[in-house]
Amino acid sequence: MEDLNIKIKEIFRNFSNDPGNLIPILQKVQKELGYISLPAIEEISCFLKLTESEIYGVASFYSQFRFNPRGRHSITVCLGTACHVRGGSILMEAFERDLEIKTGECTLDKRFDLDGVACLGCCALAPVVKIDNDIYGNMSVIKLKETLEPYE
Ligand code: FES
Repeated sequence: MEDLNIKIKEIFRNFSNDPGNLIPILQKVQKELGYISLPAIEEISCFLKLTESEIYGVASFYSQFRFNPRGRHSITVCLGTACHVRGGSILMEAFERDLEIKTGECTLDKRFDLDGVACLGCCALAPVVKIDNDIYGNMSVIKLKETLEPYE
């Protein structure tokens, strides 16, 4: 908490308390902390004189902001049209079920975080899943377990 306060105060030094600075402050906080934590929102609320719900409302509008920490490995499931019609949503449900988390969350052991994306740019391989920087095409629910195994 002490560390967080120091980091946040350091970030605030580069900005005036104009509410128009909300987005750049959120971007800087995410860059420094990896996500927008609740204590960070409280600090921003005091600094910009905005309510926490106003800040959350703005931040949650932009997909670039996340509200949970990252895991050691990041799973991104493509939910774009090509992947959707070939089972992208079913894959996402399977990940959520197997990892016992929802999209945007991180597993309790901090091994994986999970997110969806509109297109990973390799639609011919649909459905596609990305783990860290590795692309897995023609993915299926049956392959999930063995695909995750090398990621400790
Ligand atoms: S829609 Fe999935 S990679 Fe493009």
